[in-house]
Amino acid sequence: MKIAVLGTGGVGATIGSKLVELGHQVKMGSRSATHEKGLAWTKAAGPNASLGTFEDAASFGELAFNCTSGLGSVSALEAAVAGLSGKVVIDVANPLDFSKGFPPTLFTGNTDSLGEQAQRALPNSKVVKALNHVTASLMTDAKRVAGGDHDALICGNDAGAKAEVTKILKEWFGWQSVIDLGDIGQARGTESYLALWVRLYGALGTADFNLKIMR
Ligand SMILES: NC(=O)c1ccc[n+]([C@@H]2O[C@H](COP(=O)([O-])OP(=O)(O)OC[C@H]3O[C@@H](n4cnc5c(N)ncnc54)[C@H](OP(=O)(O)O)[C@@H]3O)[C@@H](O)[C@H]2O)c1
Repeated sequence: MKIAVLGTGGVGATIGSKLVELGHQVKMGSRSATHEKGLAWTKAAGPNASLGTFEDAASFGELAFNCTSGLGSVSALEAAVAGLSGKVVIDVANPLDFSKGFPPTLFTGNTDSLGEQAQRALPNSKVVKALNHVTASLMTDAKRVAGGDHDALICGNDAGAKAEVTKILKEWFGWQSVIDLGDIGQARGTESYLALWVRLYGALGTADFNLKIMR
């Protein structure tokens, strides 16, 4: 597939590299088509990797990942809105505000979410919130923790898009269990979990952990 990865940070590079490794063509998106980190990533990832603006990447991809900073996500998605029309957008971003240091706060409060803001910014796209509750290296390689015996939480308004994302998580990234929480409003739950995630990170001294829901 041709896939857009919006974001030149560690998450974009991790997801982009995994997708290239799986044989896909990936265009990373940035505010600048000559972004230094983006160019370094394309060089390392090989001929199936390229860099462009958010708009270029969105038009290129049949599918997109939003891996931009929480505070920059809406403006990045607004720049990409035309190219993302009709497409599935996997939103892994978190609404974290580090302006007062660590631990960060959630700038969306608990009556909105970045997932909902992304869907409002992309009214003709199918936004599915996924993978935002795990560290980047676990997103694309679930087996790194407990042999993969833990849960991915997703939500979104379009059932077909969620089925596609579930298949991607399982077949490409090694997830064994994907729990569908419902519509995109449920991102308020998976994003609020970051308040606990950062504290677990502090207490455990590692980012290699995730939730397993026991019934
Ligand atoms: N790090 C993790 O393990 C992890 C785990 C789960 C979720 N997440 C979430 O994944 C996302 C990406 O994290 P990251 O650490 O890889 O990268 P990041 O540093 O949070 O974000 C980098 C990207 O955000 C874009 N950006 C920043 N400000 C912007 C603005 N004002 N307007 C438009 N775009 C802007 C940058 O654009 P340029 O390319 O132009 O610089 C760059 O592409 C974040 O939302 C984070 O919360 C991270």
